[in-house]
Amino acid sequence: MSAAIQAPIIAFAGKGGVGKTTCAAATALHFASHGRKTLAISTDATPSLSHIFQSTPAETPARAGDSLYFLEIGTVQARQMWEKKFGRDVYQVFSSFVEIDYADYVDFMASVLPGLAEEFIVDYIRELSCGSEWDAVVWDTAPLGQTMALLQTPALLTRHLRLAPRIYTKIKAGEGTRETILDIIRRWEELSAADVAFLRNGVEFNIVTIPEALAVNQLDEILGDLDKYDLKVRRLIINNVVQLSDSDFLRRKADQQQIYIKQLHNKFKRFQIAQVPLFPHEIKGRETLLKVADALY
Ligand SMILES: Nc1ncnc2c1ncn2[C@@H]1O[C@H](COP(=O)(O)OP(=O)(O)OP(=O)(O)O)[C@@H](O)[C@H]1O
Ligand SMILES: [Mg+2]
Repeated sequence: MSAAIQAPIIAFAGKGGVGKTTCAAATALHFASHGRKTLAISTDATPSLSHIFQSTPAETPARAGDSLYFLEIGTVQARQMWEKKFGRDVYQVFSSFVEIDYADYVDFMASVLPGLAEEFIVDYIRELSCGSEWDAVVWDTAPLGQTMALLQTPALLTRHLRLAPRIYTKIKAGEGTRETILDIIRRWEELSAADVAFLRNGVEFNIVTIPEALAVNQLDEILGDLDKYDLKVRRLIINNVVQLSDSDFLRRKADQQQIYIKQLHNKFKRFQIAQVPLFPHEIKGRETLLKVADALY
């Protein structure tokens, strides 16, 4: 595939346990099986892509099949990447207001900002999308409200601090350079703005849900977050749909699900809607993943 074609970035969002990782892995396999070099990437605390691809956890892109690679970024690694990219600059800003040493500051950031890993991931995937190495990037567990809020931090800082005289003071930022705090915040702001623009224009969000009252109700919150930040939702995936069955138990379950499935179709006419059946077996490995991909594509 030509390097000029920008890789589609497909993100999977949704509440816990609804099938995001399963759908992301199936999507990645789908692209790869069409010959597109695909990277599936996840920030899960518990490595699950490696489990699904029946491989060992990987912190750098690892091969999981023809044209198929995956990468799991743990909290520690994400934090290191964040430190490298934003950490020192942001520290300069913070330390000009609060007396704090660098190690404490990093601990503090990591503890108060659980979206930090996702914020880094946004930036990392943006960089990936600019390169020509991947024909498709599939992103498990997309950032929502919290990450978006984090990406607004520098803009907020500029707004609130513009009148504080200290931000015009030159401070030492790295070897030989001298920048004002305002300059540093601006640089941080530009980076965040590029990440937000990338999320808006470069990423297609797939929302995964299941046909149950709680999950259906929670959709409003997720979609509200995406809407608030102008992120594009392409599809709604209804997972775990019970198929026709001889069993009375499953028939009743299916009838109940149909109520929610109808609600979803009525309410979300603006999205493509895909349904994935509930399978009787665990979903891992190529064969079962392809069944999920069949339902999705
Ligand atoms: N259609 C399905 N049929 C049968 N089992 C499924 C289906 N979809 C997902 N599962 C199973 O449900 C469990 C949860 O799925 P998955 O890990 O994809 O959810 P998740 O949204 O990524 O969860 P988390 O929020 O914890 O990351 C897994 O054991 C998976 O194998
Ligand atoms: Mg998951």
